[in-house]
Amino acid sequence: MSLLEVNDLRVRFHGTAPDHYAVNGVSFSMEQGDILGLVGESGTGKTVTAMCISGLLPREKAYRSGNILLDQTEIFDCTEAELNRILGSDITVVFQEPMTSFNPVYRIGRQVEEGLYVHEKGLDRAQKKARALEAMRRAGLADAEEVYRKYPHELSGGMLQRAMIAAAIVTNPKLLIADEITTALDVTIQAQIIDLLLDLNRKEGMSILFISHDLRVVRRLCSHVIVMQKGRIVEHGRTDDVFAHPEHSYTRHLIEAIPSRDKRVNEDE
Ligand SMILES: Nc1ncnc2c1ncn2[C@@H]1O[C@H](COP(=O)(O)OP(=O)(O)OP(=O)(O)O)[C@@H](O)[C@H]1O
Ligand SMILES: [Mg+2]
Repeated sequence: MSLLEVNDLRVRFHGTAPDHYAVNGVSFSMEQGDILGLVGESGTGKTVTAMCISGLLPREKAYRSGNILLDQTEIFDCTEAELNRILGSDITVVFQEPMTSFNPVYRIGRQVEEGLYVHEKGLDRAQKKARALEAMRRAGLADAEEVYRKYPHELSGGMLQRAMIAAAIVTNPKLLIADEITTALDVTIQAQIIDLLLDLNRKEGMSILFISHDLRVVRRLCSHVIVMQKGRIVEHGRTDDVFAHPEHSYTRHLIEAIPSRDKRVNEDE
């Protein structure tokens, strides 16, 4: 049984043209332990797909059809209470901008613990702190005690992104959705975050849906890749196969757009 099955997903926002589908017939599945890359140009439906999977796109905002099975739970049939139970425990989402995702007036530690307040109410204060520190260390924040006490503005971009990942893994989710989380970071920090995600995947079997514009990063990280264009999947396969034999002209175009220096680096690996 797959961890995630998306079948013929279609989404049209209320108030948009009747034939304008933000997502237009998307189907794919993920097994436990997969790292799946979702790439494609801006406005192509990647984030909307991720929002549907994580139950963040209510029917009041958009017409949705098709179905999404996460660990055998039909997401579109869930009540709000059921969605609140799933999001933040079975599935967590990290978005691009840690500065806007963290609340500036609370210390990092409290915000890393937040998922525990909602999903593991039985833990006492000390247990929550211990879990937060553990998640921060797993996310590569060596000096977790110190970071725990800091405010968001006191951390660098890379550390904030690690803290976001700590907040996302504190409940040990089955699926982590990462939406453009390395885009705003410089190349060195990007590489560290990729290594961290690979580590979480290998050591803990965490499944990751990784959304990115950056094919170089996707190539390093993802076992499988989906290329989307205008709400549809135009290519889907093992990452190595897609890079070696891109079938769609759009994918070839994307691969050709990777700077040649990076291509050489990859070929030398
Ligand atoms: N709240 C909204 N109301 C109306 N249309 C929306 C809304 N959110 C997204 N869309 C539309 O849905 C389509 C897909 O957007 P989406 O955010 O999924 O793109 P994306 O692939 O994530 O792009 P990017 O790479 O820029 O993040 C776009 O045409 C966008 O304009
Ligand atoms: Mg997006």
